[in-house]
Amino acid sequence: MFAPALATISLFSGVGLCKLYENVADLPSLHYDFVVVGGGAGGNTVANRLTEDPKISVLVLEAGPSNAGVLDAQIPFLSNDFGNAAGPYSWNYTTTPQAGAAGHVFNYLQGHLLGGSSSHNGMAYTRGAAADFDRYAKLTGDDGWSWNKIFPYFLKASENHDTAGQFNPAVHGTKGAISVSISGYSWSDFEQRVIQTTKELPDDFPFNLDMNSGKPLGIGWLQYTIGNGERSSSATGYLKPKVIQRPNLDVLLHAQVSKLINFTRTGSPGPPGTPTFGGVEFRQGTSMFAARASKEIILSAGTIGTPRILLNSGVGDRNALQALGIQTMVDLPSVGKNASDHPYTGLTWTVNSNQTADSLYQNATVFNEALAQWNKSRTGPLVDSDPGTHAGWLRLSPDSPAFAVHADPSPGPDAPHFEILFQPSGLGAPGNSISLAMAMISPVSRGSVSLSSNDPFAPPLVDPGLFANEFDALALAEGTDLLFKFLSAPAWNHDGYLGAPVVDLTTMTPAERVDFVRSHAGPGYHIVGTAGMSPNGAQYGVVDPDLRVKGIAGLRVIDASVLPIVPAGHTQAATYVVAERGADLIKQTWE
Ligand SMILES: Cc1cc2nc3c(=O)[nH]c(=O)nc-3n(C[C@H](O)[C@H](O)[C@H](O)COP(=O)(O)OP(=O)(O)OC[C@H]3O[C@@H](n4cnc5c(N)ncnc54)[C@H](O)[C@@H]3O)c2cc1C
Ligand SMILES: *[C@@H]1O[C@H](CO)[C@@H](O)[C@H](O)[C@H]1NC(C)=O
Ligand SMILES: *[C@@H]1O[C@H](CO)[C@@H](O)[C@H](O)[C@H]1NC(C)=O
Ligand SMILES: *[C@@H]1O[C@H](CO)[C@@H](O)[C@H](O)[C@H]1NC(C)=O
Ligand SMILES: *[C@@H]1O[C@H](CO)[C@@H](O)[C@H](O)[C@H]1NC(C)=O
Ligand SMILES: *[C@@H]1O[C@H](CO)[C@@H](O)[C@H](O)[C@H]1NC(C)=O
Ligand SMILES: *[C@@H]1O[C@H](CO)[C@@H](O)[C@H](O)[C@H]1NC(C)=O
Repeated sequence: MFAPALATISLFSGVGLCKLYENVADLPSLHYDFVVVGGGAGGNTVANRLTEDPKISVLVLEAGPSNAGVLDAQIPFLSNDFGNAAGPYSWNYTTTPQAGAAGHVFNYLQGHLLGGSSSHNGMAYTRGAAADFDRYAKLTGDDGWSWNKIFPYFLKASENHDTAGQFNPAVHGTKGAISVSISGYSWSDFEQRVIQTTKELPDDFPFNLDMNSGKPLGIGWLQYTIGNGERSSSATGYLKPKVIQRPNLDVLLHAQVSKLINFTRTGSPGPPGTPTFGGVEFRQGTSMFAARASKEIILSAGTIGTPRILLNSGVGDRNALQALGIQTMVDLPSVGKNASDHPYTGLTWTVNSNQTADSLYQNATVFNEALAQWNKSRTGPLVDSDPGTHAGWLRLSPDSPAFAVHADPSPGPDAPHFEILFQPSGLGAPGNSISLAMAMISPVSRGSVSLSSNDPFAPPLVDPGLFANEFDALALAEGTDLLFKFLSAPAWNHDGYLGAPVVDLTTMTPAERVDFVRSHAGPGYHIVGTAGMSPNGAQYGVVDPDLRVKGIAGLRVIDASVLPIVPAGHTQAATYVVAERGADLIKQTWE
């Protein structure tokens, strides 16, 4: 494909980025009230909210470069190509061989630039089910994580201005930091058929005006973190020039934190004798530096980066640390455990129509015209991610044989087991096609993030645990029936629109289908849980419900890794609300 090559042209240089520092030598200080490790979805949110108080100083240390001028991070349509390749904006992680997924080793994408994965992701904005948050409240013993208590943070984190009739304004904010919108370019033939199907097969596929109301079940218009034809990320939304220019906020790029340092047993704040870390060690270029935090260190390095730093610092399972020759500072066996992710598989059907996005992938002239249009007016087909126009959120049939293998892992009857993404393209397949991608979004499987060596810069072992539990494979295989059922509606067939599936699962035995799913699914990059919340005093878990690392003073984790179980939705919306509430919890501590 040619899109990736075009997509790395840079429009701006790093010059004139104000208080976004490229070089540690230019930083005015290495001593702040708070040091935030990682400028991703969680970290930038926290940095913004803490520096609303001009008396509080914050340093953000981000391993990657700036997002400014990176077209892959700016043009929504390019997110897919951006995602598929290792490059300077990606951590280049690979998974351990996934025994449940035919032994495959996957690239495990994570953003390595300001904005983190929010500068790198597919931009779908989905909150999950109310029951996901109510379950978090139950698992942590803190009602503050329940849907009703968290709801105001959704409004604070995002704003939605869009076409009436495609979402419900009552459940959205108008002044939040991140822009959210419905597809800005219309693939109307495809869109009408999706909506028509909800009328023809309403029992299986009811229309849902707004999947972000807490009750996602049904089919509706997909919302994206896109505004004015451009990606809205934590870098563009929470670190706007006005925020970056605050005298109490500094952001240092190209700064990779290796570990926490200056461990003491008599640290303050916290009860006397509670251990604390005074600062962090980081690398820029080939040199090592240290930064101090007098109030708190906030780890926001993401679900892979955060446990990596904790383990490098001797915070983790004593036996595992010992085996690597790392001295244990705090024995916290859950660090890096309980990872959960969403396995996705995609199916493609040829269609007798040229009203699909395929020519953008197949014909350089078409793509270049679209790029010129985007560049000139922020309009045209590149204003959408991927593009997927709708999503569906559905449940496994109550009499599914999968329930004989494991009890229902979903948090309640209003929460889905599956997501379907409806895409008017074959994503590079020849001819004109449409694709339906499906994910198993309430997985039983758990994986882990662990260290491969005591070198803090060595790649970690990333095991998203895909289909580690058979339930997930059985459920997803059964769920693919729904894709064929959806496309059996007259809407797709009355005029010969729908052609053949590239792979016809309907002719397979159930066992063959399970094999197909295991060998054709990949990770969703929605990994959470490696620094999971648990109740105060619990014998497992990594952070308390107020996001403080158990048994350590002055250290919190504020990113996706604290979610104990992956929600039934793409994970950025949940990460933003964790960070919004996390910032409030810090403010309450220091008020
Ligand atoms: C390819 C892809 C597609 C996705 N698609 C979607 C989607 O469509 N919708 C959705 O809602 N979610 C999506 N997600 C998931 C979503 O982006 C993440 O859940 C969310 O960004 C997590 O936020 P975070 O703050 O935990 O981590 P991140 O946003 O990844 O931020 C972590 C930051 O920390 C930095 N960092 C890591 N280690 C260190 C270190 N040692 N020192 C300094 N800095 C460090 C990283 O470079 C990064 O900037 C996708 C993710 C990926 C990777
Ligand atoms: C990922 O790999 C690319 C290509 O080899 C390289 O340019 C980039 O620096 C790597 N990224 C990281 C974070 O190491
Ligand atoms: C570590 O502690 C020493 C004194 O014990 C102090 O001089 C130094 O600044 C500290 N470094 C950091 C990064 O906190
Ligand atoms: C994983 O989380 C569950 C709760 O969801 C808990 O019971 C279990 O102890 C955790 N396991 C580890 C290794 O932390
Ligand atoms: C698309 O199809 C229509 C009618 O089927 C045809 O008139 C038109 O020329 C086609 N356009 C392209 C670019 O192939
Ligand atoms: C590519 O698109 C251009 C512009 O629509 C068209 O003229 C050309 O024939 C197409 N090329 C191919 C190989 O289809
Ligand atoms: C966008 O337009 C500007 C001039 O208007 C041009 O310099 C630049 O190269 C264009 N960028 C792309 C990616 O087409």
